[in-house]
Amino acid sequence: MILTGKRILIAGMSDRRSIGYSIAVEAQKAGAELLLTSFGRMMSITQMTAKKLNPVPEILEMDVTKPDDIAAAVKETSKRWDRIDGLVHSVAYAPPDALGGEFLNTKWESVATALQVSAFSFKELAVGFLPLMREHGGSLVTLDFDNSTQAWPKYDWMGVSKSALESVTRYLARDLGRYKIRVNAVCAGPLATLAASGIPGFKDFEEVWGQRAPLGWNLQDRTPVGRAVVALLSDYLDMTTGELVHVDGGYHAMGAELPPPE
Ligand SMILES: NC(=O)c1ccc[n+]([C@@H]2O[C@H](COP(=O)([O-])OP(=O)(O)OC[C@H]3O[C@@H](n4cnc5c(N)ncnc54)[C@H](O)[C@@H]3O)[C@@H](O)[C@H]2O)c1
Repeated sequence: MILTGKRILIAGMSDRRSIGYSIAVEAQKAGAELLLTSFGRMMSITQMTAKKLNPVPEILEMDVTKPDDIAAAVKETSKRWDRIDGLVHSVAYAPPDALGGEFLNTKWESVATALQVSAFSFKELAVGFLPLMREHGGSLVTLDFDNSTQAWPKYDWMGVSKSALESVTRYLARDLGRYKIRVNAVCAGPLATLAASGIPGFKDFEEVWGQRAPLGWNLQDRTPVGRAVVALLSDYLDMTTGELVHVDGGYHAMGAELPPPE
């Protein structure tokens, strides 16, 4: 199994629809040992969801905007493990006025929150957990919705935050390569999760993905994304870093809608 002997920390698992849950399921199937993090009111949901995993992983408290929380989570992790091999950042948030078509009117405080939670926090976690990875290398993976070349309807400042996250991925890859730490993002197609339910017009993506993705796309099936993250956490992609790996049915590579199959 490709993650046997690997110790992986996953930040950002909420309920069973969460991409984080699919990553946890697939990582356990691949032989990984897991630690999870959650925060605030989400903690009880994460605890319920974690009961479905086998073995049930421990969950640490960590609000990614609080340096003290990150330091405490690092300390708690190092009490349990002398190293980590992988860290998954599956965390994003934008205040309601930063999404939904009010791009021109969003106030800076909301933009700042979106950028801090959804992009800057990846750097914060990478630096915080570096002492547990720097001796032997490892893999950091974040979750992206591709904003490398285009704007989306309604996605607004979350889209800008994802562009920032893509850039953070490349700069982390630049600065952590010396420790043999790889840093990559999985660009997932749209999936029906708790976070997605807060994005106005999200349902519309179903139709456009159906028309354009050559492999097709199912908004309810998070497993392909979970498996791609597992591949990036494994040693099979040991010379891949600073990369955006698309798991979107091929949507990003098409220039127009596909004709219906004959
Ligand atoms: N659902 C999609 O269509 C889709 C597509 C591509 C990428 N993504 C990305 O995947 C990641 C996971 O999202 P999801 O769709 O599984 O939804 P989700 O709601 O299950 O996950 C989002 C997580 O972010 C956590 N979070 C928010 N603010 C936090 C904070 N301050 N500190 C710590 N944790 C915090 C939440 O607790 C939650 O666990 C996000 O980065 C999201 O943008 C989602």
